[in-house]
Amino acid sequence: MALLEGFNVSKDFGGLRALSSITFELQEGEILGLIGPNGAGKTTLFNLITGVHRLSSGQISFMGRDISRLKPYAICRSGIARTYQLVRAFPHLTVLENVLVGIHFGRVRDRIPSLRGARHEGERLLAMVGLAGKIQEHAEHLTLMERKRLEIARALATQPFVLLLDEVICGLNPTETAQTMELIRNLRGTGTTIFMIEHVMRAIMGLSDRVMVIHHGELIAVGTPAQVTSDERVIEAYLGERTEPEDRRC
Ligand SMILES: Nc1ncnc2c1ncn2[C@@H]1O[C@H](COP(=O)(O)OP(=O)(O)OP(=O)(O)O)[C@@H](O)[C@H]1O
Ligand SMILES: [Mg+2]
Repeated sequence: MALLEGFNVSKDFGGLRALSSITFELQEGEILGLIGPNGAGKTTLFNLITGVHRLSSGQISFMGRDISRLKPYAICRSGIARTYQLVRAFPHLTVLENVLVGIHFGRVRDRIPSLRGARHEGERLLAMVGLAGKIQEHAEHLTLMERKRLEIARALATQPFVLLLDEVICGLNPTETAQTMELIRNLRGTGTTIFMIEHVMRAIMGLSDRVMVIHHGELIAVGTPAQVTSDERVIEAYLGERTEPEDRRC
């Protein structure tokens, strides 16, 4: 059985059909990539999975349970965490305090850790994402890459089974990209299942076991990186028109 499954998932915003009958599955332990042109509906799918938006029709199940009508906090507590494309740290809290919020409102709520235990866990996560030297900084003072890393740490603080990453690499320089790819590989190595949206092809194709491609709200291809990059519809809809630097699409 898949860990996370969507069946005929659709979303309308007024007269705009942002997603149309998307059926997908995420297997435990895999890295599943999600690509497609700007406005294709990628973030909308994450918003539906995490309860930010309500489905217009269809169903999403997690560990065999229908989560389509759950509130975001309940979905988070069930073990699905995400980062936001437009990073959303609490600007006036310190980096460590941002992560403490994740620890206290995450999956393990019957065992709220002591403040000292939570701080210890927060420091461990921040060291893992390369922010050990920044824990007392206010989040508003971080660089873009540091904010993206804080988003990851805050999501991990909720102890997710599934981590949804929305463009955590786009906009980073090559060194930062390599570091973040390494981090994602390590996360998968520790058992976290990952669903990631990305416009940086060398990253998504290098990391993913399988890739889904959405175009105008429709699923046009799913397969291994080699399969989707040679798919005519994918080349026509997305890859072929890639004449601008990748970062321009973020
Ligand atoms: N809350 C909303 N209200 C109305 N329309 C929305 C809303 N959220 C998204 N849309 C529309 O739905 C479509 C899909 O948007 P979405 O953000 O999912 O695209 P995306 O694939 O993530 O694009 P990008 O690569 O630029 O991040 C777009 O046409 C967008 O304008
Ligand atoms: Mg998006």
